[in-house]
Formats: sequence, structure tokens, C-alpha cells
Amino acid sequence: MPFVDIHSHILPGFDDGARDDREFLEMVDRALAGGTVRIAATPHCDLEDPLPRLEYIPAEVDRCRGFLRLQGRELDLVPGVEVRVNAGLYRWVKEGGDIERLTLAGNGRYLLADLPLADLPAATADILFLLQLRGLVPILAHPERNRHLASHPERVREMVERGIIIQVNSGSLEGIYGKAARRAAFALLGEGLARLVASDAHDPAGRSPDLSAAHGIIVRRLGEEAARLLLGHNPAAVLAGEDPVALPAAPPRRARRLLPRSR
Ligand SMILES: [Fe+2]
Repeated sequence: MPFVDIHSHILPGFDDGARDDREFLEMVDRALAGGTVRIAATPHCDLEDPLPRLEYIPAEVDRCRGFLRLQGRELDLVPGVEVRVNAGLYRWVKEGGDIERLTLAGNGRYLLADLPLADLPAATADILFLLQLRGLVPILAHPERNRHLASHPERVREMVERGIIIQVNSGSLEGIYGKAARRAAFALLGEGLARLVASDAHDPAGRSPDLSAAHGIIVRRLGEEAARLLLGHNPAAVLAGEDPVALPAAPPRRARRLLPRSR
């Protein structure tokens, strides 16, 4: 099954992801080796920064697509951005900023949003709601890595009930962010709250875009169909501007087994 990845820092020289074209190509090769056929380049964007550099992303993606053609790599690269939920985003939307530019593949619908890792700013719900009022569907990136949400899954459930889509990081399932994030990630999948798994890749090795290990873990814990939805069908739907499918909650006994055994 080909994978589609909606979250990566693969665009060279933009943020703390790929440093240059050589590292970009190494990440591309890792993505392809892991079975990914389409990937969104989603550099960090903080709209409180006076120079968010948003306008350069589409041109850089076009350049990288040409580079991939020259190099004979068949990975479909599309533009995107990972937007920090803060007052800058609120102002951007309120003051009539180009919101399509903030959406995945420029589809005008899905916005990949991220929160600080430590806490949940009080205005988060209001900002996400404002995005929805403007016709956007926020996708919350890796809530399992946010310390508040990881220990308060009921807050994630509230968001899902309000139409927010949840994306879990492949690395969280592999345990690269620690036990708490891994436990929270499995809980989100087990309860049917997450519809997407993505790499959030930053480099070719440690936080790589290779989704095959996460695929194996999901198949073992939740089955083939869940893996197909989380890594293939749903991310492809999102990039096409269509609805991702909700996964059923795992039956209780199986859900319990989703929690890693303590050693
Ligand atoms: Fe990210």
C-alpha cells in the first residue's frame, strides 16, 4: 500500500528540517524506501514572526519538484505549512490574510496546526473555532507530544467532537519522543480519535520520513485496515481536500493491549 505523508520538514533551508539539497534528497530516498509516494512539505510558520516567509514556499516546492525529476525520484512533493496556533494566526485570519496559502496542497480546506509542547494556551479553542468559521478544517499535529493534552485525553475528545482532525506522529508510535508520548499516541489510536499518522520528519535518520516501522506497529496493534486508513487513504483524502474516514474505537480488551507493557 502506498503511503501519503501530510507533515514533513523536508524543504531545504527553511527551518530545522533538511539543511540543504543533499539532505533533502536523503530524506526523499528514506521516504521512498519506506513506501511513501506523496509528501507535503510543511515548514514551521509562526505568524507572530514579522517575516514568516510564507510566500517563498510554493516557488521552493516547484524548484524541488524539478530537482526530483532531474534526479529521477518519483516522490510527489506538494506545498503546505505547519502553523503555530497563536495571536499571530488569529490576527492573520481576522485581518483578511490569505488563508488558502496556509492550507495543505493549497486546497483551501485543511490547515495543519501545532501547539507549544508544554501547555495549552487559553485562546486555543477560540482560534481553532475562528478557523472553522472561515471554512477551514484544522488538523492538530501530534497532540500526544503536548504535555497537557497527553494527560487530558478528554480535551482531545472535545476537539474531535468540534470537528478538529487529529494527526499522530509515526515517531511517537516508535517511542522516539519518550514513554508518555507513546502511551498517549496509542490511546488516541485505540479510542478512534486520530485519523492520520504522519512522519513530521526533520532529518534522514533520527526523525526520518520512513513510515514503514509505524505501519508495522499499526498493523500488529490495530490491523491492516486501520493502517491503510491512517497512512494511505486518509492522508490522500486530506491532500485532495476530501473527508478522512473516522476509525472505529478498538474493543476494550484490544484497546488495553494498545498500552505498551511496562517492563
Ligand atoms: Fe512538524
